Amino acid sequence: MAKKGGTRFVCQGCGQSFSKWVGQCSSCSEWNLLVEEAAPPAGQEVSRFASGGSNLALCHPLSEISGESSARLATGFDVFDDLIGGGIVPGGITLIGGEPGVGKSTFMLQLASRLSVILKPIIYISGEESLTQIKLRADRLKVGNEKDILLLSEQNIESSLSCILSYQPRLVIVDSIQTVFTSQLESTPGSVSQIRECAAVLTKFGKDRNLPVMIVGHVTKEGAIAGPKVLEHIVDTVLYFEGELSSQFRVLRVFKNRFGATGEVAVFQMTTNGLLPVLNPSDLFVSRAHVESPGVVIVPLLEGSRAILAELQTLVTHSFLSMPRRVVAGIEPNRLNLVVAVLEKHCGFKFYNKDVFANVAGGLRLNEPGGDLGLALALIGSLRNRSLPRDILPIGELTLSGDVRPVAGVDRRIAEGRRFGFKHFLVGERGETGEKSCAARSGEVVRVRTLRDAVEHVFPGLRSAPEADSN
Ligand code: TYD
Ligand code: MG
Repeated sequence: MAKKGGTRFVCQGCGQSFSKWVGQCSSCSEWNLLVEEAAPPAGQEVSRFASGGSNLALCHPLSEISGESSARLATGFDVFDDLIGGGIVPGGITLIGGEPGVGKSTFMLQLASRLSVILKPIIYISGEESLTQIKLRADRLKVGNEKDILLLSEQNIESSLSCILSYQPRLVIVDSIQTVFTSQLESTPGSVSQIRECAAVLTKFGKDRNLPVMIVGHVTKEGAIAGPKVLEHIVDTVLYFEGELSSQFRVLRVFKNRFGATGEVAVFQMTTNGLLPVLNPSDLFVSRAHVESPGVVIVPLLEGSRAILAELQTLVTHSFLSMPRRVVAGIEPNRLNLVVAVLEKHCGFKFYNKDVFANVAGGLRLNEPGGDLGLALALIGSLRNRSLPRDILPIGELTLSGDVRPVAGVDRRIAEGRRFGFKHFLVGERGETGEKSCAARSGEVVRVRTLRDAVEHVFPGLRSAPEADSN
């Protein structure tokens, strides 16, 4: 039991605190997430703000503030520099999240190895691994500049920070936020209040000294629970590692960036010697050998400012269940349901007695609507056992009324498709499809108004054909 302040109950989902236990958090509506924690000593929270006249803050005119300190530090890891908008910003706090085992520690050590050329020394605080374990990994990764990377295996954040001060670090890496704790709170490491407080301490430490800090955080597959999600608003940049652990591809996505664009991605391949950047991701995500099979369609997905070709694989089989299955990987279940509903309503294909499986190869995610048209054609292909002509690339969003809507970045998608040998691009009728800029060759762009038109173009005569040829 706590000493002065007594205890409070903190929701591990959203961080809301309560004076007594309740089953459901009134802030985020989640059930059974309240955990008893020691409350901060009475008056502590108030005293932070009621600092009185002795500690006056000062305002500065914008014109007098030098922009020098925000000069970026290029890491030398070109893919990473491009991703975060040109390099690390002094005083910038970055959160790198991802599932356990996705490669966060590996990436941080590789980054430290590159960065230690220009930023000496770098301090790597590890709360979860021993120094020997880190050394073993460093040997495997063939990390250079070893003498400029200082390791500290410590969980107490205050003693870590006071210890590293004398080394005058130029970059601090904390791996991971769930394993460090502040002695200001009595709750266990990894609880929401510890995570938040430690992140606040690190942020202040970094900002006061113009020191970049990189914080590693584990995110569970289910999402936010006890995860670094609660930190997103505190830090400047949030990067998430995505990808199936069973595949070797890892996508590092910018979720938030105060110093650059969001939504950008960098693709890496996990090898026996660490993460290697993949310069042309489309080559990896598309296996041309499979393109001819029914149910498999290539679509260009827009990831930030770049287009990546992805392979959509679908399988439609007869269902013996009263509620047929809709199984997805890398695709929003609702997006699949929507496309199936549009196909049923506007094109007359029947899926009510079919199980539908759909996934994106290589661990990529279809999280933008530009793949709708491709998904619809893949489903029809699998239902009726017909493969899409090899050289057609479908690009379009489907509306609920069965129209094909033009999508953003068509030029980039077409350019990427052409690089891969596609000759015809199926796009929506309206919109600024760049016939002028990149698809100038006549006959390359095929405009379709509705999904029906698209089906007629790709599978002529299929809709009126009897269903006997299915499955
Ligand atoms: P790790 O960086 O420890 O993951 P995280 O810090 O996100 O929990 O990496 C974990 C996986 O990566 C582990 O299963 C082993 C694999 N790995 C490689 O395949 N090659 C390598 O060179 C290294 C260091 C790890
Ligand atoms: Mg790790």
